[in-house]
Amino acid sequence: MTTQLRSSRVVIIGTGAVGATTAYTLLLRERVSELVLIDANKDRALGEALDMNHGLPFTGGVKLWAGDYSDCKDADIIIIAAGASQAPGETRIDLLKRNAGIFDTIIKNIVKYNNHGIILVATNPVDILAYVSLKKSGFPSHRVIGSGTLLDSARFRYLIGQAKQINPRSIHAHIIGEHGDTEVPLWSLANVAGIDLEFTEEERTHIFNSTKNAAYEIINAKGATFYAIALALDRIVTSILQDDGSVLNVSTLLQDYNGVSDIYLGVPSIVDRTGVREVLDLKLSGEELEKFQHSANKLKSEIKKLDL
Ligand SMILES: NC(=O)c1ccc[n+]([C@@H]2O[C@H](COP(=O)([O-])OP(=O)(O)OC[C@H]3O[C@@H](n4cnc5c(N)ncnc54)[C@H](O)[C@@H]3O)[C@@H](O)[C@H]2O)c1
Repeated sequence: MTTQLRSSRVVIIGTGAVGATTAYTLLLRERVSELVLIDANKDRALGEALDMNHGLPFTGGVKLWAGDYSDCKDADIIIIAAGASQAPGETRIDLLKRNAGIFDTIIKNIVKYNNHGIILVATNPVDILAYVSLKKSGFPSHRVIGSGTLLDSARFRYLIGQAKQINPRSIHAHIIGEHGDTEVPLWSLANVAGIDLEFTEEERTHIFNSTKNAAYEIINAKGATFYAIALALDRIVTSILQDDGSVLNVSTLLQDYNGVSDIYLGVPSIVDRTGVREVLDLKLSGEELEKFQHSANKLKSEIKKLDL
């Protein structure tokens, strides 16, 4: 499905595997009218822009170029996918020191030219770096979003679909919390057409472990993950630009939410032209609540080590 949107500019900072695939996805789906690629490695951004531009005769009329931070001026959305990615065996938190450092410069450069757009963070550890982006940009929290557990929830829905032989698009199921090792599956909310789904203990273990460890498995097999995250970012961009009010498990600032405050975590949120319009008021209890709070505490202890 292609959906031509009103005049809109998306800037992508970091045009490695995730950034370039996201650009290509937005291009193929004709989501935006202008796409700008920025990378510390200028040749990389230039090469990707040339390669994609040569495909324009086969697609719609997106204007795409390798640019610089001054192009952020008219951006509706600035996606950050710059920085180190996990090597085999590394956790997302292992990337924090390396990636927090580059965010200082990236956010400074964005706010020099733009104070009205939406910052959408994909770089890992995504929840902490979205929080860092909030603190460093001075933007209101509804305009600083992390991709959160949208990808994890897609993996979860896919695997439930496989187990139940149902199209994953018809499955409602959520992963919340950290996009990482402490993420929380909400088995209590998994349903099809409002009917609760039943799982054996074996099914639960297989589905959740395969969800949580998906990135490790893919990175071991081919070095990086980028197709599904590109589609997840496309989904968020589309909800923003189409002002469609979709409920997406993005990472957003939580205050007084199931016992946690002042932290970014993935939870079901309504996304529209304003960014995160509203965080849905999940009432967690028992093990799900405990695990969610554990996820928050883990990230908080990592944030304490940063100079914010
Ligand atoms: N949020 C998610 O669900 C999700 C999924 C997959 C990957 N990721 C994360 O996305 C990030 C990018 O992954 P990748 O596989 O594309 O990595 P990559 O190494 O292929 O690309 C990273 C790019 O960032 C550029 N870069 C580095 N420092 C920069 C700076 N200061 N300014 C501009 N560009 C800079 C590099 O030149 C490179 O082109 C990683 O942190 C990875 O863990 C997140």
